[in-house]
Amino acid sequence: MSVDLRTRYLGFELSGPLVASASPLTGTLEGLHRLQAAGASLAVMPSLFEEQIEHEELALLALREYGSESFAEALDYQPAVGDFPIGPAAYLETLRQARKELAIPICASLNGCTAGGWAHYARELEQAGASALELNVYVVATDLDTTGAELERRMLDLVAIVRAAVSLPLAVKIGPGFSAPAHMCRRLVEVGADGGVLFNRYLRPDVDLEKLELGPSLVLSDSYEARIPLQWIGILRGQLDTSLAASSGVHTAEDALKLLLVGADVVMVTSALLKYGPAHLTTLEGGIRAWMERHDYASVAQLKGSLSRANCPDPSVYERANYMRSLISYSAKFG
Ligand SMILES: Cc1cc2nc3c(=O)[nH]c(=O)nc-3n(C[C@H](O)[C@H](O)[C@H](O)COP(=O)(O)O)c2cc1C
Repeated sequence: MSVDLRTRYLGFELSGPLVASASPLTGTLEGLHRLQAAGASLAVMPSLFEEQIEHEELALLALREYGSESFAEALDYQPAVGDFPIGPAAYLETLRQARKELAIPICASLNGCTAGGWAHYARELEQAGASALELNVYVVATDLDTTGAELERRMLDLVAIVRAAVSLPLAVKIGPGFSAPAHMCRRLVEVGADGGVLFNRYLRPDVDLEKLELGPSLVLSDSYEARIPLQWIGILRGQLDTSLAASSGVHTAEDALKLLLVGADVVMVTSALLKYGPAHLTTLEGGIRAWMERHDYASVAQLKGSLSRANCPDPSVYERANYMRSLISYSAKFG
């Protein structure tokens, strides 16, 4: 039996559910070609960062107002444009070329937390041929005076600004740290998002005990992390009519299948591709097909969402009751 892996995401009819999420691999034409050849049905380019955009705009202003010290100071706070793997102009050129050379949809990405120059760059990305746009709203709320409600309002305003600027399909990539993620997703859809990418993976700083320094340290994900999107996609599917992409912790075909079963339209992969290379997508696809054949599933459409909260015989596994039950049954082992 041959299985039908097709799925719909952001209005695209995709050949399969495996998407290459934003990473250095999706930032070059060579990387994108390799990902397409290995079975990616869509690729998300790495983000243009708000700081990068601002830096470029500040640099332009500084040139115009040559001699003004305040601009020089402002430039010092930001990473230099050259510190980013790819500057805005080169990004747009890679995107243009990728759209010419590749058959799969190419999603551009913007990463930031304030309104800034997003609308302008969103338009530039649309003009350069992006098939869709992913907004990665990455906020670390360190300010004691800023409430969650205020941050959510800013995020919604920002999505609304970008929505008004472009007509591209728009996905919003969020972190899992909202008090009410389900409600926030509904509001994002109300202000114009066509889909949610659940979730961005927040990187935590670490202490270097030899240098006695705090620094950034990037650790790749593992399969356990897939339980975060698994829970929330399972809760949302059937309640919210929008595209849902699972991101975080997809390393094996089993991880991908679980996320599809709870209702993901696509599963996104980054860490596993950085670890094993783009060809890992072919392995994942083979594993998905084999499992579906063994379990008599003819299509992804047939299995998608069958274990969502809305379809689950025992929806309490998604809820507080499950927490209590899990703790009680674990404690019983020590009884
Ligand atoms: C090296 C690296 C670079 C990344 N760059 C971006 C980026 O530019 N924009 C973005 O939205 N996410 C970026 N991500 C996050 C991934 O797209 C993904 O959401 C996250 O790693 C969780 O998926 P995973 O468990 O498959 O790695 C990056 C992740 C890694 C490891």
